Amino acid sequence: MTVYIYFLLLLAEALVLLGVAVYGFGLIFSSLKGAPYVPTSKKQLEKIFKNISLKKDDVFVELGSGDGRLVRYAITKYKVQGIGIEINPLLVWWSQLLAKRDGSIRKVQFIRKNIFDYSLTKVDYLYIFLMPELIQKLLPKFKKELKKGVIIISHGFKIIGFEKKLIHTEPDKTFSTYYYKI
Ligand SMILES: C[S@@+](CC[C@H](N)C(=O)[O-])C[C@H]1O[C@@H](n2cnc3c(N)ncnc32)[C@H](O)[C@@H]1O
Repeated sequence: MTVYIYFLLLLAEALVLLGVAVYGFGLIFSSLKGAPYVPTSKKQLEKIFKNISLKKDDVFVELGSGDGRLVRYAITKYKVQGIGIEINPLLVWWSQLLAKRDGSIRKVQFIRKNIFDYSLTKVDYLYIFLMPELIQKLLPKFKKELKKGVIIISHGFKIIGFEKKLIHTEPDKTFSTYYYKI
């Protein structure tokens, strides 16, 4: 009996260590690619959607989608078409699992890709929560590929160079949200 408990404890310890290693790998991997994995808070998420008027089958794209919480929410609440682009394979796997659980899986695609390699020509709404340096590198792509009328929602950081396109700011103590219209 004691040996049995000992092995159970050993197994639990190994699982915890594995979880920590996987999570740590995920954090380091995402950071190396340009933006650490910091999810948008659930409290702010609902506020963010109140400022836009999504319609059924609009194309909502989240660049650097993390666990896909924005795109999954947009689908379950507004029935949009959702696409999440994420470079971290663990987060892609995790977001797919969560989408199966919340039923958004039928209308979402999570693609493991570098955001620079995904074409933005079909987007209606674009959500980003990325570091300023990465946003600046994306600007030429935004200018070239986004069609007129697209709404960009940038959580946390302003888009330098798009000042004239700013249509709304949702202030917050930690991360404000900026809305731009192309
Ligand atoms: C601050 S997190 C935001 C996650 C999610 N959008 C949210 O708001 O909850 C940034 C995400 O971008 C991803 N990322 C960073 N650089 C990327 C790149 N070059 N291509 C694709 N995803 C990237 C990271 O792995 C991370 O999950």
